Amino acid sequence: MMRETPDDTAQTAEATPDIRPVPRIAVQAFCESREVAAVIEAAASDRRMAKAHVKVQMGGMNVAIEFYHGAPTPNLVIVESRVEREELLEQLDRLAEVCDHGTKVFVIGHVNDVPLFRELMRRGVSEYVVAPFGIFDFIRSIADLYSSTATVPLGRTIGFFGAKGGCGASTICHNVAWAITTSYDQPVVLVDLDMPFGTAGIDFNQDPSVGIADALATPDRIDDVFIDRLLTRFDDRLSILAAPATLDRTFDLGEMAIEPIVDVVRTSVPAVVVDIPHLWTSWAKRTLRQLDEVVIVAVPDLASLRNTKNVCDFLKQTRPNDAAPRLVINMVGMPKRPEIKPEDFARALELPILSVIPFEPGLFGTAANNGQMIAEVDPKHPIGETFRSIASIVTGRAEVRRQKKPSTLSFLSRLRGKATG
Ligand SMILES: Nc1ncnc2c1ncn2[C@@H]1O[C@H](COP(=O)(O)OP(=O)(O)OP(=O)(O)O)[C@@H](O)[C@H]1O
Ligand SMILES: [Mg+2]
Repeated sequence: MMRETPDDTAQTAEATPDIRPVPRIAVQAFCESREVAAVIEAAASDRRMAKAHVKVQMGGMNVAIEFYHGAPTPNLVIVESRVEREELLEQLDRLAEVCDHGTKVFVIGHVNDVPLFRELMRRGVSEYVVAPFGIFDFIRSIADLYSSTATVPLGRTIGFFGAKGGCGASTICHNVAWAITTSYDQPVVLVDLDMPFGTAGIDFNQDPSVGIADALATPDRIDDVFIDRLLTRFDDRLSILAAPATLDRTFDLGEMAIEPIVDVVRTSVPAVVVDIPHLWTSWAKRTLRQLDEVVIVAVPDLASLRNTKNVCDFLKQTRPNDAAPRLVINMVGMPKRPEIKPEDFARALELPILSVIPFEPGLFGTAANNGQMIAEVDPKHPIGETFRSIASIVTGRAEVRRQKKPSTLSFLSRLRGKATG
């Protein structure tokens, strides 16, 4: 599809949650302008292209033709060209002679010329894009080339991660998943990644006999039909891909164990809610990096603050084109416990707080022991509304009010002081 000059400033991460991940393909780009090369390089390091292997070099069409005289062509060859129509067509014919079967050609031009676009398509070019363009336009164009189901919407992936153990990340994750289904009548699959200790089953009063362990045991079989059989249906909207929650085996998973499962789940449901245990393994890091929305749940103490800061730094570094994670402070107001005030927490992290949830042991304890959601135990309690509002934000229905960036930084300087001294 030909795309016109985009407005780069409009391409915030929040406005583009529906870009499919690019599959495991080899891509080689031959650029004429620094600007185009820079956009492709930035796109190549985006999480949505993490599986693709991308090489960018300068030189344009003639360099590409010369190069492939002596080398096999990758899955996708991208060539930028500034030349006029006739010369471009002539160059493309020469490129076609050295292209292996199955290689797709993606042309970046500098003229918005519809007849030329048609002629290129007729000659087997897969895509013609007019420079300048933004990172997300570029990724979307490639993703669409390799998706047989490009018209089917792709589910948004929303993950919850606790800044430390036991801070209520799973409870909040499950309540928000449920709130999405009840508030918006929208199907959700809840994926419990806490293999030995996951609580999605008990929180929803289910006793699953199958779940994610079956997918991990037979990775070759992972597809939508197989995963569908592993789901536990809570009701007609909420399904759970449950953790085994047994200790008869260990789960030393590889970095890429989880991603294919989540990728398959999201092809069949508009929202995938992922409960990530408090671990720092290669697969947990990979999962966090690949999510559309990350919610960090912290309790108001110094260890949570330090850990949240470190996770935020990791996310900022590995997903530079995405919005910052959302922050939920939980168990605020526990009697007799000294606490960092939520606003100080936010200021230290330079991150707005999405929600503050009070410590309510009676309510949460009853819900946990009954296998119920908070809003089922007490439909009038304001915490139910908090979960609905988190649901509206992480599903992209409501935008967070713009908050003034808090100024710096007393608690972090304390941490730094600790680290150095
Ligand atoms: N706001 C709250 N007030 C009181 N108790 C809470 C609150 N939030 C969660 N809890 C309780 O805290 C306990 C731990 O919660 P949960 O299992 O959700 O934490 P987690 O961060 O997922 O822990 P883990 O590190 O084991 O995965 C549960 O018993 C839960 O009911
Ligand atoms: Mg948990």
